[in-house]
Amino acid sequence: MTETLDISAVRAQFPVLSREMRGHPLVYFDNGATSLKPEPVLQALEAYYRDYSVNIHRGVYELSGYATAQYDQARESLRRLIHADPAAGEVIFTRGTTESVNMVATGWGLRHLGPGDEIVTTPLEHHSNMVPWQELAKRSGATLRYIPLTAGGSITTEAVQETIGPRARLVAVSAMSNVTGYTPPVEAILAAARAVGAVTLLDGAQYVSHHPVDVQDLGCDFLVFSGHKMCGPTGIGALYARRERLEEMDPVLFGGDMIERVTLEGSTWARIPEKFEAGTPNIAGAIGMGRAAEYLMEIGLDQIADHERRLFRVIADRMGSLDYVVPYGDAPDTERGGIYSFNLEGVHPHDVGSLLDQQGIAVRTGFHCAQPLMDHFGISGTVRASFYLYNTEDEIERFVAAVERIHGILT
Ligand SMILES: Cc1ncc(COP(=O)(O)O)c(C=O)c1O
Repeated sequence: MTETLDISAVRAQFPVLSREMRGHPLVYFDNGATSLKPEPVLQALEAYYRDYSVNIHRGVYELSGYATAQYDQARESLRRLIHADPAAGEVIFTRGTTESVNMVATGWGLRHLGPGDEIVTTPLEHHSNMVPWQELAKRSGATLRYIPLTAGGSITTEAVQETIGPRARLVAVSAMSNVTGYTPPVEAILAAARAVGAVTLLDGAQYVSHHPVDVQDLGCDFLVFSGHKMCGPTGIGALYARRERLEEMDPVLFGGDMIERVTLEGSTWARIPEKFEAGTPNIAGAIGMGRAAEYLMEIGLDQIADHERRLFRVIADRMGSLDYVVPYGDAPDTERGGIYSFNLEGVHPHDVGSLLDQQGIAVRTGFHCAQPLMDHFGISGTVRASFYLYNTEDEIERFVAAVERIHGILT
């Protein structure tokens, strides 16, 4: 595949990439945890705080109107990123993926699920897309079922068919594993859920920032994602929900901004989406996330996905030639994003991570908020290298050379 991104131009937009760590140019391979932020996003954040840092919605004065317009524009940018219906007002700002999932569990789940109903998810989920369903099952009396994984952590369509039965009311799965980069058969899962009338949620925390997404094509009911993993700020994220679902969902936070009328006797709610955004929102965060969405669309999500797939193939090839490397995930390259998890035989992942850090290479080690998947693999953790649009093959060469050195030191 030919290079389609101008990586040098991209890298020049990310100030953190010009830093040295421990005397080496930084290699940032921890994008699964959070992405770095490019100049356009930094400028959008600074512009809000410097030029118009006033509250939205409430002001009759010009500056507040401007801030409100920027906030609304950010919502529109997210809508375009995921191709939601322009007319339906289906994007809600939240604090991030975790909050979005909790909002669905509490605001939709508690109202619609009860004993005899089934919630279906998978053992490969991030805790954020598992613990809220465990809690919902406990509180509603519904049963939680898991689509079983292959030994290597994949999902077969047979397993999907066998697990999503007539009692399934809600099916919540990740579009991409934050541990192995595996992209489950989302279309088969959504089709199986639809066939039994179940509502669907996709955890797009690792996906939306790396691949083109069209919620109308996918036909999912909910899609959740975080700003900080897509070149945006921390503390901001989104909940996409089909209008129909939003209309049958309760707000979970109550107070200012989400009401239509308050009397001493009770209150009525504002229109969607304000109904779900109580209190002064993270205005700068929303504007920064909207700018990040624009930035990714300017670069091209297809190009980003291709670039990361290529990096995955390079690292899988290079690491595959080292017989002491144990990689995780058995799915073919075509079902993987830019995340590579591995261990060195007989070596604790934290030791590998610390020694990589000595060479200026930032990776994540541990259980990656996915303890059930670690249990499935029979390990306590992995070393995870996760890529984004600014990573290069040269960085992978440096990484592999560092791994070889570490193996030499530790064994
Ligand atoms: C797949 C997946 N889901 C959910 C989350 C939670 O995201 P946040 O911490 O931004 O709420 C993460 C974060 O790593 C993730 O990778």
